[in-house]
Amino acid sequence: MEFHVITLFPEMFDSPMKSGMVARAIKAGLVSVTAHHLRPFGLGSYRQIDDAPYGGGSGMVMRPEPIAAAIDQVIGEHPGLWRILMTPQGEPLNQERVRELANRHPGLLLIAGRYEGIDERVRSLVDYEISIGDYVLSGGELPAMVVIEAVTRLVPGVLGNPDSIREESFSDGTLEYPQYTRPEEFRGMRVPEILLSGDHERIRAWRAEQALARTRKRRPDLLARRKSG
Ligand code: ADE
Repeated sequence: MEFHVITLFPEMFDSPMKSGMVARAIKAGLVSVTAHHLRPFGLGSYRQIDDAPYGGGSGMVMRPEPIAAAIDQVIGEHPGLWRILMTPQGEPLNQERVRELANRHPGLLLIAGRYEGIDERVRSLVDYEISIGDYVLSGGELPAMVVIEAVTRLVPGVLGNPDSIREESFSDGTLEYPQYTRPEEFRGMRVPEILLSGDHERIRAWRAEQALARTRKRRPDLLARRKSG
């Protein structure tokens, strides 16, 4: 799986991609992450990227031509990438969308906007728009990294144990059941007896029940979506 990012801050992608699961996946040749600098595609001798908004108002708006030129170059070199604009106005990211993205071969071209806004016509250049949540960041770089991390976990061979993906939160539309490890008692709190019983059938049922109860209490919206979806 290939990830490409168009950004004004390629260096932001250096260290997060050097540690942990994504780094291991890159080393194993399962994924690649390439940050493409937007600046060289800027206009004029100043390599201008943004301009004042038509109609007035505060702040600057990213012009469409540098982004279009960067997309054309990356797609020319890596045909078939799915073009995704990171924006708070996009479709909310969830585990189901992450699964869809993980199936987009050969990979994704993530466009990280900056500044106060992006010219509306950039929308016509992409296949999809993604928001990582209802809050505003000053750029799409961290959202792009969120997509890279979430998708990489689902690339076959990246996680040692595929069961852990199947059982974790959201994979079946519920939150995960409560987990315990040693010690049996911690500050007066005991591990539920059933988990020490060795009765795998009852443990499975207890976990399913707990996952459902927890989801009902904390995230009833997930259950509503599961029923309607
Ligand atoms: N860019 C700025 N804020 C964002 C968000 N919440 N999601 C995706 N891209 C963004």
